[in-house]
Amino acid sequence: MDQLILGQTLSFAGDPFAEGPGAARHHARGGVLVRDGRIVAVGDGAALRAAHPDAAVTDMGARLLSAGFVDAHVHYPQTAIVASWGKRLIDWLNSYTFPEEMRFGDPAHAAAVAENYLDLALAHGTTTMCSYATIHPESVDAFFAAARARGLRALAGKTCMDRNAPEGLRDTAQSAYDDSRRLLEAWHGVDRLSYVITPRFSPTSTPEQLMVLGQLWREYPGCLMQTHLSEQTDEIDWVKGLYPQARDYLDTYEAQGLLAEGAVFGHAIHLTPRERARLRETGAALVHCPTSNTFIGSGLFDMAELKAEGQRIGLATDTGGGSSFSMLRTMAAAYEVGQLRGRALHPSELWWLATCGSAGALRLDDRIGNLAPGMEADIVAIDLASTPAIAQRAARANNLWEALFPTIMMGDDRAVAGVWIAGQRRG
Ligand code: GUN
Ligand code: ZN
Repeated sequence: MDQLILGQTLSFAGDPFAEGPGAARHHARGGVLVRDGRIVAVGDGAALRAAHPDAAVTDMGARLLSAGFVDAHVHYPQTAIVASWGKRLIDWLNSYTFPEEMRFGDPAHAAAVAENYLDLALAHGTTTMCSYATIHPESVDAFFAAARARGLRALAGKTCMDRNAPEGLRDTAQSAYDDSRRLLEAWHGVDRLSYVITPRFSPTSTPEQLMVLGQLWREYPGCLMQTHLSEQTDEIDWVKGLYPQARDYLDTYEAQGLLAEGAVFGHAIHLTPRERARLRETGAALVHCPTSNTFIGSGLFDMAELKAEGQRIGLATDTGGGSSFSMLRTMAAAYEVGQLRGRALHPSELWWLATCGSAGALRLDDRIGNLAPGMEADIVAIDLASTPAIAQRAARANNLWEALFPTIMMGDDRAVAGVWIAGQRRG
């Protein structure tokens, strides 16, 4: 049966970084028609109602209907250590992250955290996420099983590390290849799930491990490959010492066949001109993780410059290095980082990054990240007056962007009034 969801609608006909806010499409009294888990039409609510009198109607009033948020880089195993105090990247990994990740060889622990993480993500309006697991294959099985049970379009991979990690949290080049390949064969393309080849980052992989993962990627070019790139200056110095032959950090991946379309690099803050040129030429994606970059003290991503030179960019929480599960809070942090870089990102640009941009970074923008005919019906309804502080500010708004910006800056899961996954109401 057809389903008609009524509310304000926000979608994109283009990239507002290139075309300005006019790239957005807004219906103040709009509607989204859903059939068999997909969007059939987006437009004026009354007209859709008249044309589809048999559709089951859900009226969300003045709430804003948008594509669900796409979190392009998250570590679900770090859910329970989010907001851990006082360390920078390498210390933070050793003090908080690795001890917690050690526990994911236990399938019951992995399942409990995966369920908890996905419930939190959905409550925050995130309908697709691309997660790192841990080195344990069980952690990938747990995540995909929980995502599948919720009908989610979700991506994840076994995190590979064969050096500079504690005993109990290291694989080998061969076992990383074998386990990744087995998991990929088991999960990639099952329902809405995608496997992502996942070396953690160059410091925790030997060149041999990166090489065999490059070989695996050549065997399965339809997969994405995700890793971290140039997050902190100490990390970059460490990489220089570990890879003396490499031209730069990106080259440690490039030399092993891990730079191509479908590569997704988290952080990518401190880039050289050569790295930027190669990222753009290859069509690899950069993922901005602003709450993480301020929380761990990593640096200020140069969104304006990188977008202007044509980089493919998504937005992400990076929990638990990131300090929030909310893509609203993440947009706010991207705004703040932009301000510190001298460029105020427009609400249309922030919203585009959290939906279309992240979907594009994951090469899924033909399926998710926008309200448009043919897209999968992963939809959120946003309350633009979810707290007294937001409501009193939004009451002064003269247009959509003024109404939306207080929710971007001050909103959280209380703003998420409805969530649909492939057309099914899930929150
Ligand atoms: N670099 C390598 N691993 C990680 C991680 O888990 N979080 C962050 N923020 N950076 C990393
Ligand atoms: Zn990360």
